[in-house]
Order: sequence, then structure tokens, then C-alpha cells
Amino acid sequence: MVTTPTSLNKTPAERFLHLQSANNSLIVQLEPAPAIVYWGNKFSREQPLSAALFDAPVGQARLDSHIPLALCPEQGRGDFGSPGIEGHRNGKDWAPVFELISVTESLSSARLTISDPRASLEIMIELALDEDSDVLTLKQRLINTGSADYTVNRFALTLPLAETFSDIISFHGRWSHEFQMQRTPLEHSGFIQENRRGRTSHESFPGMIALHPNSNDLSGDVIGMHFGWSGNHRLQAQVKSDGRRYIQAEALLAAGEVILPPGEAFDTPTLYAVFSANGLNGMMQKFHQYVRSSLLQFPPSSARPVHFNTWEGIYFDHQPRRIMAMADAVARLGVERFILDDGWFINRDNDTRALGDWQVDKRKYPDGLTPMIDHINQLGMEFGLWVEPEMVSKDSELFRNHPDWMLGLDTLGYTQPSGRYQFVLDLQNQDAYHYLLSSLDTLLTEHNIAYLKWDMNRELVQAGHDSRPAYHLQTLALYQLIDDLRARHPYVEIESCASGGGRIDYEVLKRTHRFWTSDCNDALERQRIQQGMQLFFPPEVMGSHIGPRQSHTTRRCHDMSLRGITALFGHMGAELDPIGLEDNELRAFARYIGLHKQYRPLLHHGKCFNLPSHDPNTRIYGVMDDSVTLLAVAQLAMPQYALSGQLRLPVLCANKRYRVEVLDSPAAFSHTMKHKPVWMDKPLTIQGDQLIQIGLSLPLMDPESAMLLSFTLV
Ligand code: DGJ
Repeated sequence: MVTTPTSLNKTPAERFLHLQSANNSLIVQLEPAPAIVYWGNKFSREQPLSAALFDAPVGQARLDSHIPLALCPEQGRGDFGSPGIEGHRNGKDWAPVFELISVTESLSSARLTISDPRASLEIMIELALDEDSDVLTLKQRLINTGSADYTVNRFALTLPLAETFSDIISFHGRWSHEFQMQRTPLEHSGFIQENRRGRTSHESFPGMIALHPNSNDLSGDVIGMHFGWSGNHRLQAQVKSDGRRYIQAEALLAAGEVILPPGEAFDTPTLYAVFSANGLNGMMQKFHQYVRSSLLQFPPSSARPVHFNTWEGIYFDHQPRRIMAMADAVARLGVERFILDDGWFINRDNDTRALGDWQVDKRKYPDGLTPMIDHINQLGMEFGLWVEPEMVSKDSELFRNHPDWMLGLDTLGYTQPSGRYQFVLDLQNQDAYHYLLSSLDTLLTEHNIAYLKWDMNRELVQAGHDSRPAYHLQTLALYQLIDDLRARHPYVEIESCASGGGRIDYEVLKRTHRFWTSDCNDALERQRIQQGMQLFFPPEVMGSHIGPRQSHTTRRCHDMSLRGITALFGHMGAELDPIGLEDNELRAFARYIGLHKQYRPLLHHGKCFNLPSHDPNTRIYGVMDDSVTLLAVAQLAMPQYALSGQLRLPVLCANKRYRVEVLDSPAAFSHTMKHKPVWMDKPLTIQGDQLIQIGLSLPLMDPESAMLLSFTLV
């Protein structure tokens, strides 16, 4: 039997919302429960929407009506998938079924309020398409309208996917190996990723991409999504037995973590998602556009200074004279900001002690930091300082005086494992919070500090506040702490670091300026890490340093060109001991820093792209604006074939001419190549359509090498 939804009697305009952005349309069917029924390429709002398009059949041996895949899927309505809300009021009010009570809409956004008076719950759903970038933001608020507490077990954001999205790309990783991509089919089963580490994590970046099986970098439909949250999360992509698909994202809550008192509200973090009909490149460009226009607090008119960081150069061995000599050396290379990493504060001689004691160590710096900062400033560089505010070492004055400021369940008799020999401060403890705020405020007030590298090297285990789970509120308190500090020091930039790339997400980016992408400065590893990260984050926030010839994290050796070209495509820096470097290596550093500065406006404002290669060990990527395209070819491992094929450039314009120039290539190619393609010898001018269709014959590149090309409009 086929049922007819009663809402067919209403006019389409009453039953549907049609939101639009530059290239996309999104249709929400309002009844029986608000559900996105279309999201994709834009179509006109001029013609009335044909409601018949959305009427679904009802199959035998199933419920007798079609159950929408709602923005908040409800178990009580008969949705057998993952509910949008799970909770109870002392065992009751566990199966709410909501009714739409109000709608506010503009051309590109809507706010819907749904309510279940029986369960005394109300949900506000906010959807907005960014008019320029097409990025969709979705967030929800749950309000307890009852007179008793409501326990929230789950509160999730749900986005449907068309049935054609049958592949997903997810991200996994570990310390020094972040943003590893995995593409798998999404059929008859689901994918669930759970992060319980208390920070965004190296292991489970909160992002996912759904795509057609034949979508690639250049073409095809792609939906990218990122959950902007620096705490625990659950992400899923599910296929229902009827073939409908959806993605769901939520803050993962510990048992009993959220108990809402009467009248109080609980907010989800924001889900960012984008539909692109132009493959992964289109998705990446839209995310970059959105980050640049809507999230970043960095003035677009300022250039991001080239960094030098002391960590891998000296670790904990802080000697001001030597550090000033390092500053002299790197100033000559073109460095613009000098960052003093871990080891400067009282008794911090190694990683087992002193976290929490944020005063300058007078044994190491008898005259304080100021003479060194003055020296660095006189060299024309800004000064930056490393801190790790959320942490405490048991061997610290802070812990000895305030053992109760530690996040944990120790008072109940539990013992938590340390991580890097350290523990976490309870940011909900107001005394601990204000101690941190005033310590950081004092440091920034008393010194000319332009930049803080804000580290976080331990995961949260037994995160208890007053014996209750505190993962969620700890994360919100961290945001508040950064916000409060920024309100006092609005011109100080902040880098988000968590043992490298353990806290990289849009919510922390709203209040920071750069990410420390990974502790791995091995250029080969960095190629893949940066490829994954760049799908969501533009190069200017991706910290990338040229390290020493032998990597400290992998012990691999790489020549300067792979190291330089790899670091060039991010927010560039250098990290090593510059003293004692051979002249030719110093010249090479200066050269890559110079190249970065020359192309910095393009690198930090242009459009990024990846190009396919028939060799899975070759990575081709670049950045372009209206006049210049900068392109890197990186050979990551032994080429699969004896010839490297053609470099075709579909991103160029067919009817324009380009000056093709090799800006950098390995100092020498191995004897595997007897003849180098002639186009590499000197700049040539070539017609766009020839570069698009025929392409340039790539040289035979050695494993772990790279070259840099430019294509300049003539
Ligand atoms: C971990 C960071 O990722 C490193 O870059 C460095 O700052 C160390 N912490 C310092 O302890």
C-alpha cells in the first residue's frame, strides 16, 4: 500500500526551504520532520518546486509510511539509524518525537525550532550556506524545557548523502605521521571513528570526504566535512538498508558527562561541509576560501613571517649567548621571527619536570629574557615563546602547592598514567584558570613577545572535575582561556601545537593563527602529511620547517631541494642548529627562504590544486593565481615505470601563453637518466592548450627528490 503524506496538500513553498549560495542549492523538506532532501548544484528558485519529486515509495514488510532521514533522526518516529539525540530524564523521555514550531530563513540560511512538549525538549537547528565559498555550517542547541534534569547521552549533527556517494576518504595517523588518507567503499555497512583522547588527536582527524567511486582530484561530485571540535568526537558514515546514506558528527560524551538542569541548553560544535562538483580540488579550494574569509583572524594584508624554531637545534640546552649567535646566523638567512621553544622556564632541564612554573629560569637567563629579545628585535626579527599552559609536572612548584588543581579522579583513589611524565590542569578550577591567565598575561606584558607556540603534549585520561567527567567542559574552558588572553593581547599570534599535529581543527583555528603540522620534519613524510592536511587547511596556517639533512624523527637523510621545496608550500620556517652549517648549506637555506618570500603572496592567497599521476609514487601539486602557477613534482619512492610520463596541466587556460621555467631541481640526477628533457634547460614559452593536452615529458626522477616549476602568463 502506498501512503500519501498529508503535507502534499500544502503548497511547496510551505513545505520546503530552498537555500542558495554561489553554486549550490540546498532543499529542506519541513514535514513530517525537517530533512535535507537535496544538496548539490544550484538550480533556480524562480520555478515552483515540484513536490512530487520528493514523494518516496513505501515497501512491503516495512513501516507503513516513509520515514524521512531527518536533520535530527528520531528513534520514536521509526528511524532505525543512529538517532540525533539520545538521553533520558531519570529513565523517561527517551524517545522524543519533535514537531516543527518555528522557521526563520534568509536566502542562504535557516533556523528551525523543533519541540516535543511531552518530553520537555526543544532543539534549535541552524543551517547556513556561505554565499561565496558554498561551505555549509550546521549546528544545534538542545534546551531542557522541563522541570527536572535531563541526561544527554548523545547529541549529533546529521547530513544526508545522495546514494551515489559510495566511497569515503577518512584520516588516520599517529605522532609524527598525521593526516594519513584511506579511501574505502561505503556500501552496506558503516564507518565509525571515535576519538577519546581529549584533544583533536593525531589518530582521528575529525574530517571525512564522501565521493563517487570515479571522483578524483579534478572532477566528480565530492562532499567534504569537518567537525570543528578539539575534544572527543564520534564521526560516522552509514548506509541504511534502503540505500540512503548519511554522515553524522557529535562530541563524544562520557557517561553522565552532560546533565542539563531545567532551562539550560547544550550546544553541538559546528559541522562544516561542502559540496563540490569539481572533485577534491574544488572541495579543497572552497574550504580554503571559507577559512580565509570566515575563520582566520589574521590580517590578509600582512605577510606571515618566516620562522626559526630552536627545538631541534638545542632542545633543553638553553645558553643565551649561543641562542643569540643562532639568531645572528638565521637573521642572515632571511628569517623574520625567532621562536624560543621549550626549556626557558624554572628548572625545565628535561621533559620530566617544571611544567606549570611559568617564570624565567634565572640560572639559564640571569638577566631574564629581555636582553635576548632585544638582540633578536635589533636583528629585525620578532620574538616568539613556547608555552604549554594546560599541563603540570608533578615535579613543579605549582603541583607541590596545588595538587588539587590537577584534572583527575585521584581523590577517589584512582591513579592515572602520566604522558610525557606530565598531567593536565583542571581548567574548570577557577584558581588554576586564573593562575594560568595571569601567568601568560604577565609574560606577554613584561616582554616583547609577538607569538606564542601553545603546546599540549598529553592526552586526557580520567579527566575528572569534582569526580564528574570533564572532557567537554575542559575543551570549552581552553577556548575561553585563549579568548581571554587574546582579549588582553589582541596582537599576539598563537600557534596551535599538540605534540605536532594533535590539535588541528577549525574551532581552535578561530582563535589561533598557525598549526604545528607535525613533529616530523622529514620532508618525505611531510609530503603525505601536508597533502592530507591541505584538503581542509590553506598553506598559510600549515607550519612547515626545513630541518637538518638527517631527520631527527626518522633518521632519513634528504638533500636540500626536497627539504626546501616541501617546506616552501606552507608557512615556512627552519628548525635546526645553524651554527657550524657549511656555507653551501647556509646559502641553500637562504635561497629557499628567498624563494618562499618571493612567492609568499601567491602561496598564501592563491588556489591550491593536486594533479593526478599514473605513478602512485609521484605527487604533483601547486598553487595558482591569475598570472602565475607554481608547481612541485615530488618523487616519493622509486618510479614505477622506466619513463615518467607527461605532465599535463588542465588548470591552465588553453588560449593563453606561458613562460615555463624550472625554478629548482635536485643538485644532480642519478645516472638512471642519460638525457634530460630539453625544456628543463632554459625557460620556454608554450601555448596553454599544448600544456593542457600534450604536456611536458617529465624527467626520470630519483626516489625522494623534488623539483619546482613556474608557469607565468606571457
Ligand atoms: C612538542 C612539540 O610538538 C615540539 O615542537 C616541541 O615544541 C616540544 N613539544 C617541546 O617540548
